[in-house]
Amino acid sequence: MRPLIFIGTTNLDVNFYSNALPSVGQSLIGKIEEFTGGKGANQAVAAAKLGGNPYFATMLGEDSAADILMENLAGFGVQTNKIQRKPGATSGKALILVATNGTNMMGIDVGANDKFNSDDVLLALQDVPENAVMVVEMGLPVETCRTAFKNKKNRTLIFNPAPVRAQLSEEDCELIDIITPNETEAEELTGLKVSSIDEAFIAAKQLQKKGVAAVAITLGSNGVVYVDQEQEIYQEAFKVDAIDTTGAGDAFNGALAVSIAQGMKIKDSLRFAAATASLCVTRKGAQTSMPTKQEVESFMAEKGL
Ligand code: RIB
Repeated sequence: MRPLIFIGTTNLDVNFYSNALPSVGQSLIGKIEEFTGGKGANQAVAAAKLGGNPYFATMLGEDSAADILMENLAGFGVQTNKIQRKPGATSGKALILVATNGTNMMGIDVGANDKFNSDDVLLALQDVPENAVMVVEMGLPVETCRTAFKNKKNRTLIFNPAPVRAQLSEEDCELIDIITPNETEAEELTGLKVSSIDEAFIAAKQLQKKGVAAVAITLGSNGVVYVDQEQEIYQEAFKVDAIDTTGAGDAFNGALAVSIAQGMKIKDSLRFAAATASLCVTRKGAQTSMPTKQEVESFMAEKGL
């Protein structure tokens, strides 16, 4: 397997579970639970649970949350030697409202994540082999992401534009090997409406025209559309009872990176990543809901795959 490096954010998630998402002025009764999260961290944990032994570069604060976050990452099998702590800063936090059908809304206090700068990226990449698969997400400052792009060398760059903090330049697009927006992020990046599979293919082709080599738009329970120079693929999502969709996109990105690092064909990688994401939504939390390799393989075998 090729080496894997994830570069992204880490948060302590405070999840509120209730029957519905609240509307303005409404007070709801529900249950509050804390989980470890952050898109980059979730992606790295997903990869670790799938056997990827990934590096992870992130910035934690100097607080008790940082201790919990670090301990969890190590416990899940993520390599923690590229994780830094910013003196005086507080770790990132996310407030996530989850309804019983699994849908969510979230607010993020980026905290120390915003202090992860270009020098930190260069340091993190120093000893990462050039045949690595590298995953970057946009919770980090935009300049930091761009430094990672410019220093990808021969590594395969998967870019998860979540959340969209800036439009992509031509140079950015030319450096990205696979971009993985969800439907909302695809709309923000293209200005096109993405509310169906056909519209997702149109948006994917527009991103490809901007210079990105391959585009995978995730559509939640409607699956994934994928476009590169040679092929167009539609991968459906697997039917499951969703209880918490937090981290589903991260499960997809982590699994996609692992399967590419293993040399799987893109069609098989998309199916494996979709299966991983489907299993993730059947459990509460982000990192706690990432399935192991065995769980994904048994799930796929049950589906006759
Ligand atoms: O993608 C899910 C993640 O987004 C959560 O874990 C939360 O921390 C936010 O970054």
